[in-house]
Amino acid sequence: MEIQLLDKKFVLSIPEENILEKISLVAHSMNRDLADKNPLFVAILNGSFMFASDLMKKINFPCQISFVKLASYHGTTSTNNVLELVGLNENLAGKTVVIIEDIVDSGLTMTKVIELLKSRGTEKILIATLLFKPSALQHDLKPDYVAMEIPNDFIIGYGLDYDGYGRNLKDIYTIKN
Ligand code: IMP
Ligand code: MG
Repeated sequence: MEIQLLDKKFVLSIPEENILEKISLVAHSMNRDLADKNPLFVAILNGSFMFASDLMKKINFPCQISFVKLASYHGTTSTNNVLELVGLNENLAGKTVVIIEDIVDSGLTMTKVIELLKSRGTEKILIATLLFKPSALQHDLKPDYVAMEIPNDFIIGYGLDYDGYGRNLKDIYTIKN
């Protein structure tokens, strides 16, 4: 199946059924690993909203979840941009935090999020991502939970967007060249 968003065409690449199967496997691993950790899940908006929702429904241990946005503010000089996690009001000291992301591409976003969580005293940080593009990775990090590894092509759907569009699609589509 093919769809058009703005000026680009996309083809169906991962149907909802397959996505949910892979998320179940991640949930199974978490239910095994984290049952006694009382973790705080931190889902990065906007892209992770569908993944977070479907994953959390399958988690069977006590936990908290918070939705945050990574915002960039202009500092005093143009090179001095300040990043902040907006919406994270929980006390992180001594906590196990599981970051929930839609996709790790270059790894820059994840690196920044980890830095910010560390600076607030988080004891242990785990990374859970729906999608991982190993061949695009440019930072030194290794996601702990990956639902699906994909090639280095632009995708949309299931929370991921092209210029704000496509987040509502229940399946994942790959850009058509
Ligand atoms: P990174 O900082 O390069 O790892 O990129 C992470 C962010 O870029 C993700 O949170 C997405 O918002 C966006 N992104 C990366 N690859 C894609 C893609 O294929 N489709 C849609 N958004 C993407
Ligand atoms: Mg994102």
